[in-house]
Amino acid sequence: MAMATSPHSLLLQNPTHHLPNNSTLKPFNAFPLTSTRFTPITTAKRLSITCATTTQIQDRPPAQAHSEDRVFNFAAGPAILPENVLKKAQSELYNYRGSGMSVMEMSHRGKEFLSIIQKAESDLRALLEIPDEYAVLFLQGGATTQFAAIPLNLCTPDDPVDFLVTGSWGDKAFKEAQKYSQPKLIWSGKPEKYTKIPSFEDLEQTPDAKYLHICANETIHGVEFKNYPTPKNATGLLVADMSSNFCSKPVDVSKFGVIYAGAQKNVGPSGVTIVIIRKDLIGNAQKTTPVMLDYKIHAENNSLYNTPPCFGIYMCGLVFEDLLEQGGLKEVEKKNKKKAEILYNAIDESNGFFRCPVEKSVRSLMNVPFTLEKSELEAEFVKEAAKEKMVQLKGHRSVGGMRASIYNAMPLAGVETLVAFMKDFQARHA
Ligand SMILES: Cc1ncc(COP(=O)(O)O)c(C=O)c1O
Repeated sequence: MAMATSPHSLLLQNPTHHLPNNSTLKPFNAFPLTSTRFTPITTAKRLSITCATTTQIQDRPPAQAHSEDRVFNFAAGPAILPENVLKKAQSELYNYRGSGMSVMEMSHRGKEFLSIIQKAESDLRALLEIPDEYAVLFLQGGATTQFAAIPLNLCTPDDPVDFLVTGSWGDKAFKEAQKYSQPKLIWSGKPEKYTKIPSFEDLEQTPDAKYLHICANETIHGVEFKNYPTPKNATGLLVADMSSNFCSKPVDVSKFGVIYAGAQKNVGPSGVTIVIIRKDLIGNAQKTTPVMLDYKIHAENNSLYNTPPCFGIYMCGLVFEDLLEQGGLKEVEKKNKKKAEILYNAIDESNGFFRCPVEKSVRSLMNVPFTLEKSELEAEFVKEAAKEKMVQLKGHRSVGGMRASIYNAMPLAGVETLVAFMKDFQARHA
């Protein structure tokens, strides 16, 4: 539908629009629109958006579009969000679908928000094909809160639970579980600097453990499970932290007792934590469990026991909608595999100039850690990349080196631009 272009829409398309032609004032722009060495490949058509009451997106850009005024953000989280989702949220920010207010201002018990949270849940159910026997909860407190909530809800303080630790996040979950249960470390990748996942047959599991916990994708170390261990315990329960690969590929939810994920990597802004839990596991929380950590309370109240992170849930809903429009998680996985392959190939074919320490079979599709043979050049690499509008490439402070997080929303052009930069950097510094 064609709409007249308003001054607001011009301002959004062109931040200098409000300045007179002879103005010496420069609008704030941390990154120049033209890069010195590389021009990021852009597939986006410019959008026309108004801030008027009948806000509309007239032209939805292709999924994974990238506009020249944005950087390629390789942050591990909070992380890049799909450009078309941001544009849509922008267009609905001031007046959500004719309600006369923004999502941030509306009652979480009003009909508009109820339809937002219900649609978010049903789209997520469609994406992950979540069986009816599972509840979907939209919570707060980050995945870190789930490190405590899981044992509090699934066992008594005396119950053994098994942990297979393949990186720092699994280790943190293990340590937190010590306060509320009797966790046993059945395998740790720490001696090998978290670069591997063991063969499942060799694992000695605890027969009376209440569950087996894994972190499906270790964000810091870039280690990702490609298949999952079968819990050999009395309950047969597998629990997974999927914070950094949530909705990056299809997952057979029925293999898990609980899946949990902070939203801020693949599906939304920080502030929302998603828990998918088999319903029969709800209702046995330890007596001392704070009300905000009791899954029963949240399930009975459809995630509305208290004020939920409304705007964050709305954003997650837009991302779910976008993922469905892209053709669902099989299609998303194909794109993710292609991006990861391009980047890992560039590392592996650099004759050792770049190195990824992770064993090939378990390399993450989402977080790609790498180092430089000449480690003294790493700071320069990160600095030069930032000048080329590729930001947040510094590795986690605990491991150093570099890390490129290439979540769902990272366009192929971002990875291609990074690889071109890596080759150029190598040619200049080899
Ligand atoms: C795999 C994983 N688990 C847990 C967390 C902690 O999440 P939050 O900061 O939302 O508590 C993170 C954060 O980066 C993570 O990557």
